[in-house]
Amino acid sequence: MPDTPLRNRLSALLAQRPPRHTLPQAFYTDPEIFEFDLREIYGRSWLLIGLETEIPDPGSYLAMTIGRSPILLLRGQDGVLRGFFNTCRHRGAQILADGCGHAQRLLCPYHQWMYDDTGALRGAGRMPREFDKSAHGLNPIHVRTVAGTVYVCLAAEPPEFDAFHDHLAPMLAGHDLGNAKLAAECTLFERGNWKLVMENARECYHCGAGHPELARSFPTDVRGNFSTAGMVDLPGFIARMEALGLPSAAVQGEWWQASRFPLRDGNVSMTMDGTPCVAKPLCHVNGGDVGSLRWALEPHCFAHAVGDFLIIFSALPLAPQETLVVAKWYVHKDAEEGVDYTRDGLMHVWNETNLQDRALVELNQRGVNSLGYVPGPYSEASESLAIGFTDWYVNSVARRIGVAAPAQKLVDA
Ligand code: FES
Ligand SMILES: [Fe+2]
Repeated sequence: MPDTPLRNRLSALLAQRPPRHTLPQAFYTDPEIFEFDLREIYGRSWLLIGLETEIPDPGSYLAMTIGRSPILLLRGQDGVLRGFFNTCRHRGAQILADGCGHAQRLLCPYHQWMYDDTGALRGAGRMPREFDKSAHGLNPIHVRTVAGTVYVCLAAEPPEFDAFHDHLAPMLAGHDLGNAKLAAECTLFERGNWKLVMENARECYHCGAGHPELARSFPTDVRGNFSTAGMVDLPGFIARMEALGLPSAAVQGEWWQASRFPLRDGNVSMTMDGTPCVAKPLCHVNGGDVGSLRWALEPHCFAHAVGDFLIIFSALPLAPQETLVVAKWYVHKDAEEGVDYTRDGLMHVWNETNLQDRALVELNQRGVNSLGYVPGPYSEASESLAIGFTDWYVNSVARRIGVAAPAQKLVDA
């Protein structure tokens, strides 16, 4: 629970916000609220990290930083994937540098305390005989997987996960992500608050004008959770996909959404000409012509699985007006670069899209910083997922500070 002055301030800001409007300025600019977001939003939510195949063998690890918290995921000799705070229990040094690799044991570079692959402290030279190593293992974090995808939560008590798992697992089953490999990764530094990055990522109101490459294959007139008006043949598409064994109808929980939607007529992948960019598909159903399975988690990500690749977009807050956007592309593990795909063919549409979005986010931040900024109304027809994101955020803040959530209505236009 934040201290009383911050709690009072947040409570007053929440009360100021008109329903279905963007947030008061301080939520996009204020250093104290940014620290609150790191602790109470990113520190308490499930976050999509990537695929299990990035940490495939005993000893393989993935280390990254969430907010101010270095974490690591490590597969033990017993095959179990475990997560830890990557912070030494001696004096707190970060143990492994961010990145991927192999480690049979974890050796802190500062004073060489040594941990095994279950996080237990095994070596702590020069400590007294009575020192209790068993009380100084690495602090664990929660790890869950869904059909080859990996999620972490840093909170002692994470949000309920099972409903998300049970809905998403059958939707992802046809995409064979257990046989995918990371083919490309791109990191963008954006001068914008993480919430502006995510509001942008939750609507396609701007896509027709802002994303000419994406708009070739992506139905930029989509509404709601890719689920209703504006997509004439959606029911027919869903029925066809489900008849092929691919659960596709839109589902959502408090902090997640998933649905399969058709690409524009004649397009089978999110590429410049709508044809697959990878010769060895991940999804073999219907020759890989399966639209896009989109799933998204508040607060930070979305993913699109088309027949031939998967892309994951993730926003990681760095400072009140700085966010790191990480995009990862995955293809079938047997697809060979230069033979079955090219990096440019795979990345072009989403690279251009992410660069265009960065420019929009930065424009947005500059305008929001103005003395003249006041919260503005979302389009209920075209920004309902952005409304859903800010409502989720406002409700999360209200819960953390112990006040009633402001009255809102989640629109699915
Ligand atoms: S801080 Fe890790 S061994 Fe001292
Ligand atoms: Fe965009």
